[in-house]
Amino acid sequence: MKVGILGAMAEETEAILERFKTTRKKEIGKRVFHEGKWEGHEVVVCFSRWGKVAAASSVTTMLDLYDVDQIIFTGVAGGASPDLEVGDIVIAEHLIQHDFDASPIPTIQRYEIPLLGVSKFPVFAKEVKRAKLAADLFLQEMMSEPKNQQILKFFSPRPPQVHVGLIASGDQFIASPAKLLELRKDFPHLLCVEMEGAAVAQVCYERGIPFTVARSISDKANHEAVTDFPKFLKEVAKWYSAEIVERILKTL
Ligand code: ADE
Repeated sequence: MKVGILGAMAEETEAILERFKTTRKKEIGKRVFHEGKWEGHEVVVCFSRWGKVAAASSVTTMLDLYDVDQIIFTGVAGGASPDLEVGDIVIAEHLIQHDFDASPIPTIQRYEIPLLGVSKFPVFAKEVKRAKLAADLFLQEMMSEPKNQQILKFFSPRPPQVHVGLIASGDQFIASPAKLLELRKDFPHLLCVEMEGAAVAQVCYERGIPFTVARSISDKANHEAVTDFPKFLKEVAKWYSAEIVERILKTL
């Protein structure tokens, strides 16, 4: 099994690269693809950069260059549901592109991707289940360490949880309760917002490649998001991604 792993944040990708020895490296179009073996699987790892275009370009190049059987995308996200707290993990079951709107054309719905006729990209049930188990196991193991409990207490009033459901992606860092309300009006079950997942989902959907999107909640997409986000990234997000991906690889 060959697994393509992409992360939207340099800090997370660096933490992932510390877990295995890179045996070969290829650089193309500002992306570096690191090949190696991790948990018995061949892996290719790439820092995707931010936003839908960067992510779509990274995953497309990866699929063109390497014969990967599946894609795992990790990163942070802003919580969009009041049920989520900083430090929670979201596993995507569906992904939408919240800034896509070709609806002035009468035959196309808001959020629908023209020609595909899809607005919510589904993740295969097998990948959702595997990622949920990996994230549950990670939180269980992590919270058994008093040191980690202390760090997370600083971010959240309760122990972290895993959620499975809808993720919305767009080329906007959301730090506005008004924007969140607008999105939640159209998608009442929306869990979180980020900037890449649904672009990766579209590329994988078009090619029939199984994929996983796992996000840790770094902020609540409100006015505090701009300060919570870098703090979480520096102190927590690094270990989240590497630990979740490692546990997914163990079950493949
Ligand atoms: N990634 C992490 N937090 C985010 C937010 N508030 N909006 C978009 N992407 C994010």
